[in-house]
Amino acid sequence: MGPPATHESGHFYFAQTGHSHFAATVNAEEIVKSSLLSYDPALRAAGIAAEVHLAPQLPPVRADARLLERCLGNLIQNVVKYAATGKWMAIRADLAVLPEGDRIRISVEDRGPGISPADLPHIFEPFYRGTCAQTDDVSGLGLGLTLVKRVVEAHLGKIAVASSQRGTSFTILLRPWYDRKSREEPQP
Ligand SMILES: Nc1ncnc2c1ncn2[C@@H]1O[C@H](COP(=O)(O)OP(=O)(O)OP(=O)(O)O)[C@@H](O)[C@H]1O
Ligand SMILES: [Mg+2]
Repeated sequence: MGPPATHESGHFYFAQTGHSHFAATVNAEEIVKSSLLSYDPALRAAGIAAEVHLAPQLPPVRADARLLERCLGNLIQNVVKYAATGKWMAIRADLAVLPEGDRIRISVEDRGPGISPADLPHIFEPFYRGTCAQTDDVSGLGLGLTLVKRVVEAHLGKIAVASSQRGTSFTILLRPWYDRKSREEPQP
């Protein structure tokens, strides 16, 4: 008899090998497309043109697709709420080759007024809301980016933000899921 079923389930195995424990393989392309689709009416109503750039043949990620869609949805919603004056956003997915390894990079960029240097270090804190006029005019709890960061971290990923008076970009880095067999090099 083999080990109990729980030992065969993904949790232990992925925890020990440094992978997130999400069992499904998900394509960045699908997540980007579906999150954009759900916010299409809001983007249109705000007069924001959305560009999409998807690198071909991206490796999948082990992820909870619905949670990642909510993350991108929150970032897009923030563009609608705080950066509509720029009339533009871009969402991109590509493969970043970094010293720590390959990463799926998904970014959401706008040409809004930006996030002030005073606010920037705090935007991922729960209930933190910016101090600019745009923020005063729209409702929110200050939880969107907290959720985004927690979900990304649950996927063992990272999130970064860059902002100036000419716009803001959020970048999410996720570990690609390479099928083990296809990655195994023949041993000498
Ligand atoms: N794209 C952006 N451009 C300018 N400011 C932004 C942008 N995204 C976020 N912010 C600022 O960061 C703050 C925190 O964002 P977050 O999404 O966490 O909360 P919220 O949008 O205020 O509320 P909630 O997301 O809970 O509805 C916002 O209040 C806003 O001031
Ligand atoms: Mg928000």
